[in-house]
Amino acid sequence: MPLHRAIYVSDAVGEAATSLLVLAEILGASDRNNRRDSLTGVLMRHGGRFIQAIEGRRADVDRLMDRLRADPRHQNLRLLSDQDVPVRLFPGRPMTLAQMTPAAARVLNQAGLDQLSPDRAEVLLTTATEALPIPA
Ligand SMILES: Cc1cc2nc3c(=O)[nH]c(=O)nc-3n(C[C@H](O)[C@H](O)[C@H](O)COP(=O)(O)O)c2cc1C
Repeated sequence: MPLHRAIYVSDAVGEAATSLLVLAEILGASDRNNRRDSLTGVLMRHGGRFIQAIEGRRADVDRLMDRLRADPRHQNLRLLSDQDVPVRLFPGRPMTLAQMTPAAARVLNQAGLDQLSPDRAEVLLTTATEALPIPA
């Protein structure tokens, strides 16, 4: 089955926009499930929105997207890209939490996360992730 990557933006609901505990709960479930499903990717929360890239086998990406669409911690999920790809951008990362670093903010260049083109979304997320350690 080919490798697939989806990138989406969503609006955080309620305390999901600011709470560290909510983020920790999301990351805990993501680490467990994504290791099981050989999914990799990155999650960023910024300005009340989430942006996330998920890559893996298409069936596994689609199953996660179904769970994500049903998750009340965010809403208005819109896909920036959803396509078969030749290689992973985030190998070894079951789900890395990235911050809006100054370098990433320069890529965003005042735009809203939901205004990013697919290519720019990839550059933003790889830029924000590249200095972060690969987990064991
Ligand atoms: C912004 C956001 C990102 C998420 N990312 C993932 C993820 O990468 N992998 C995952 O399994 N669940 C993720 N979740 C949680 C899922 O929506 C869902 O709650 C979870 O997969 C259910 O798994 P469980 O039955 O093992 O608790 C995310 C939720 C939110 C709000």
